[in-house]
Amino acid sequence: MLILLASLPPPTESLPFPISSSHWCYQIQLKPSNYTCLGPDEWEGSCQNSRQSPVNIVTAKTQLDPNLGRFSFSGYDRKHQWVVENNGHTVMVSLGDEVSITGGGLSTRYRAKQLHLHWSKAMDRGSEHTFNGERFAMEMHIVHEKEKGPSRNTSEDEIAVLAFMVEVGSNNVNFQPLVEALSDIRRPNTNTTMKRSISLFDLLPEEESLRHYFRYLGSLTTPTCDEKVVWTVFQEPIQLHRDQILAFSQKLFYDHDQSVNMTDNVRPVQSLGQRQVFRSGAPGPLLSQPLPTLLAPALACLTVGFLR
Ligand SMILES: *[C@@H]1O[C@H](CO)[C@@H](O)[C@H](O)[C@H]1NC(C)=O
Ligand SMILES: *[C@@H]1O[C@H](CO)[C@@H](O)[C@H](O)[C@H]1NC(C)=O
Ligand SMILES: *[C@@H]1O[C@H](CO)[C@@H](O)[C@H](O)[C@H]1NC(C)=O
Ligand SMILES: *[C@@H]1O[C@H](CO)[C@@H](O)[C@H](O)[C@H]1NC(C)=O
Ligand SMILES: [Zn+2]
Repeated sequence: MLILLASLPPPTESLPFPISSSHWCYQIQLKPSNYTCLGPDEWEGSCQNSRQSPVNIVTAKTQLDPNLGRFSFSGYDRKHQWVVENNGHTVMVSLGDEVSITGGGLSTRYRAKQLHLHWSKAMDRGSEHTFNGERFAMEMHIVHEKEKGPSRNTSEDEIAVLAFMVEVGSNNVNFQPLVEALSDIRRPNTNTTMKRSISLFDLLPEEESLRHYFRYLGSLTTPTCDEKVVWTVFQEPIQLHRDQILAFSQKLFYDHDQSVNMTDNVRPVQSLGQRQVFRSGAPGPLLSQPLPTLLAPALACLTVGFLR
């Protein structure tokens, strides 16, 4: 399939929206740029509003929602040599037009546009969302757009992001085509094509584990932080070898001169405020924890996967 590079979207989640904040940067870039860019405290657009992302997910405070069932993934099994781009803020894989999701408590079909990652050189500092205050090594976002019906509307669930934590584990051969592509796109605004074909499923945890997730309404985590994202944060992390994780910080640069390693591209956690985080209601095992004796077995069966 041909990917039309000219139609590739602008930075990270901010897909088809105007970029009104051209000089935004992450905290770590402020000093080396002599504070000439706007750090997270000064991000514009909706970034200083009250329904922002990422958030800390306190698992004990999440509310079970039986409507949050399994996702149906379409095109996630399709192998392809994807185009990978350093866009100055992250590494982004463009996903064409043939990948989509339904189910998972979403109101309609959402079409995948791109995936990208957030990371750090420290293994406990690279995720944007946190679980009970715990940060992971990386976080991967697959960004989907709501399929437009006849009445185009801008609502709070215009974009669906599937978020996956990444933790240190054994070598993940399925990720290698992406990791190897990094060497070709060290500088911002460069792109390359993966040398081998992979599918999205190749990058994800076991499909069976994908029925366990958290759900809340929030925003893009990059300017202009539009509050139109229905977030799905999966409980089961992806595992990558430490060297695969470090490759992102070592190979990629924020700047053309290759003086500032691209790392810590992570927005600080935002206040949850009045929002509720829900958890999926799909029954099933993942019974790795002892059951609290107070819970009826049936209820325990539904919830225990989240009581980490
Ligand atoms: C930052 O300022 C210093 C001192 O004025 C200068 O030497 C350096 O080149 C500047 N760096 C950038 C990225 O502008
Ligand atoms: C657009 O979405 C908002 C929020 O979901 C809703 O309140 C409003 O009625 C919708 N407008 C139309 C024309 O569908
Ligand atoms: C990808 O790189 C080619 C040249 O190497 C360039 O013509 C094209 O515009 C680039 N696309 C993006 C989205 O950066
Ligand atoms: C920064 O990039 C250089 C050159 O690739 C690499 O040697 C170094 O390890 C990187 N630093 C970090 C902290 O990843
Ligand atoms: Zn993101």
